Amino acid sequence: MSGPLVLAIESSCDETGIAIIDVESTILGNVVASQVALHAPSGGIVPEVAARAHLRWIVPVLDEAWADAGIGWGDIGAVAVTYGPGLAGSLLVGINFAKALAYVHRKPLLGINHLEGHLYAAWLLDPGEEERPEPEFPLVALIVSGGHTFLVEMRDHLSYRLLGQTVDDAAGEAFDKIARFLGLGFPGGPALDRLARDGDPDAIRFPRAMADSGDYDFSLSGLKTAVLRHVKAEHQAGREVDPADLAASFQEAIVDVQVAKTIAAARSRRVACVLLGGGVVANTRLRERMEKAGAEAGLEVWFPSPALCTDNGAMIALAGSWRLERGERTELSVGADPSMELA
Ligand code: KG4
Ligand code: ZN
Repeated sequence: MSGPLVLAIESSCDETGIAIIDVESTILGNVVASQVALHAPSGGIVPEVAARAHLRWIVPVLDEAWADAGIGWGDIGAVAVTYGPGLAGSLLVGINFAKALAYVHRKPLLGINHLEGHLYAAWLLDPGEEERPEPEFPLVALIVSGGHTFLVEMRDHLSYRLLGQTVDDAAGEAFDKIARFLGLGFPGGPALDRLARDGDPDAIRFPRAMADSGDYDFSLSGLKTAVLRHVKAEHQAGREVDPADLAASFQEAIVDVQVAKTIAAARSRRVACVLLGGGVVANTRLRERMEKAGAEAGLEVWFPSPALCTDNGAMIALAGSWRLERGERTELSVGADPSMELA
């Protein structure tokens, strides 16, 4: 017997996430075991350590999500799993676990692209929400995470056309590097976001790379260098730099370009709706600025609640639910694709 629920496993990076959702996009169970404390001493993710931690946590995470949902295997219609992009060892733990569950319980397996999951997070209902209007097609979506920064156009479900992407670093990577430079620990994005709230975003004018490039590409490595150079120059001149001002000014330079390019892409593609996804979308300033710019441009702006911006199983489950409805199935022989692309 198979029900309509989708169980999904996400282990592409450093979070072990398992979730169960229903066809209305309601989350029945969603548990994420974060490895942040484990990787903090090394200041970054150690792939081997991440894979081992997934192995250790994946069963307890399933048990907890399952208990929260209060369901049986007869209610499950498919097992979805992230099969790329991400760290090979981490992906393999989730994939093999998903295959075992699908095989033993005779459920279809659905391999899901992690980036597709980030896009679908905006459709998930938050706890307590029963229904709400949905993002409407065609739309332009910005994905900003630890490993990716790109703009895509969606004219329908599961259909993507790449508009532009970073030519060097991802936004999350830039946040993490500057946060480390400021001694904010790992991962630095959330800490930098908090510090920036006490700073002046106009204190230091950092370059807005590729702001006027006329395309939808991004470049972030120059901004990082500009921050380091600024601090060095100030120190050489015998001046101190206020960390909060530095954080706020750096963040503003990133957010400025992201907001401007997203709005420009929405206008040129003549869409009425903009959607955001990925860990960096948890950023307070990006959310604030995008909402304001969207309102001014007459665009609807959709983003997931902060907890659903970062890696989780629920977003994979929802993408899986759409692929299940299309009648898709993934072979049990499928492997990990660490550099998988979306479009
Ligand atoms: O999507 P995600 O959880 O994992 C990847 O697929 O990469 O994104 C993680 C990234 C990290 O670089 C983290 O520092 C960043 O998202 N991040 C933030 C915030 N919360 C998470 N960056 C800026 N502000 C935040 N509030
Ligand atoms: Zn992610």
